[in-house]
Amino acid sequence: RGDAVLDRRGRPIRDLRLSLIEACNFRCPYCMPADRIADDHGLDAAGRLDFDQIETLVRGFVRLGVRKLRLTGGEPLLRKRLPALVARLATIEGLDDIALTTNGALLAAQARPLREAGLGRVTVSLDAIDPSVFRAMSGGRGEVADVLAGIDAARAAGFDTIKINCVVQRGVNDDQVLPLLERFRGSGIVVRFIEYMDVGTCNQWRHEQVVASAELRDRIHARWPLRPLDPHYVGEVASRYAFEDGGGEVGFVSSVSAPFCGDCHRARISADGQLYTCLFAGTGHDLRPALAAGEDALVAAATAIWSGREDRYSELRGSRGASRKHVEMYLIGG
Ligand code: GTP
Ligand code: 5AD
Ligand code: SF4
Ligand code: SF4
Repeated sequence: RGDAVLDRRGRPIRDLRLSLIEACNFRCPYCMPADRIADDHGLDAAGRLDFDQIETLVRGFVRLGVRKLRLTGGEPLLRKRLPALVARLATIEGLDDIALTTNGALLAAQARPLREAGLGRVTVSLDAIDPSVFRAMSGGRGEVADVLAGIDAARAAGFDTIKINCVVQRGVNDDQVLPLLERFRGSGIVVRFIEYMDVGTCNQWRHEQVVASAELRDRIHARWPLRPLDPHYVGEVASRYAFEDGGGEVGFVSSVSAPFCGDCHRARISADGQLYTCLFAGTGHDLRPALAAGEDALVAAATAIWSGREDRYSELRGSRGASRKHVEMYLIGG
């Protein structure tokens, strides 16, 4: 296509992670603690890109090399008429993969229309299987039974690739790791454990709360022996392991213990049209002026921004070069 762009470290843009809404029906303490984020946060639709703007944006980024789109939030299922948006995005030529990250609470009602609209995959965040641990981790807003019903509905609707993301915090939910696997091993649903990260400004992140993937892997291996699998593609975020007994696979996202910035091909855009070149970026780049001028102007603006990109926060974490100011996770959806 000719518009593909590399950043200053030679990295192309392959994935676009697009937040559709900055509101969430959960208040996970590590992301949107209820005592800091008002109940009505992000419910004002006025600042959000509309569907026309979103479609132009995605078309422009496909010209720049994007092949994979992930819709995020906040909680994307709170965005009105989401299936209609997905149907429009699904027609974009060159986009191979459209996925959605959700907390799952509203998925049971929406799985089928989303599948019919052309959504390819869903990833459900699920930090605990025990109802009371789950409730606490959602800030008292969620019920694990609803999320499990959402996962079942997604399968019934025909989603054949469903993943579960579990952020592990020591002393909070690390006792949920084996029970989660007990529940999903052998189901075809892949559970991935994510190292707790110092994203945003709301959690009082401490290194002691991180459970390194190597430790989890050892714990899991002691119960169900594991064997490493090759990545599906260069820059895959999760490292993959198979259960030796044929129970499927498990993944680990180790951005604290083993940063993967060298292959980071991800651009992130907030619901109000700010482009973030890193999950830990302090500020975004407003794409709306370019977007107003049309797809070509958007491509030019995004090219200029991406060409100057140098980010590698996870490799610098704790050192003097590392930025202190970080965008909130609920603005860009991970
Ligand atoms: P697949 O396409 O299903 O492989 O998705 P993915 O690997 O992009 O996974 P997903 O979007 O589910 O990401 C899992 C988690 O990994 C996110 O929620 C983040 O917490 C973390 N993560 C994803 N991308 C990055 C990244 O670029 N940097 C860092 N530090 N963490 C990331
Ligand atoms: N560390 C790691 N993952 C996080 N997420 C939110 N905050 C953090 C954090 N501090 C995860 C959510 C969800 C995804 C969008 O990002 O649990 O799975
Ligand atoms: Fe909502 Fe996800 Fe943040 Fe939890 S982690 S508050 S579900 S956006
Ligand atoms: Fe990419 Fe930033 Fe994550 Fe590194 S820390 S992998 S540059 S998003």
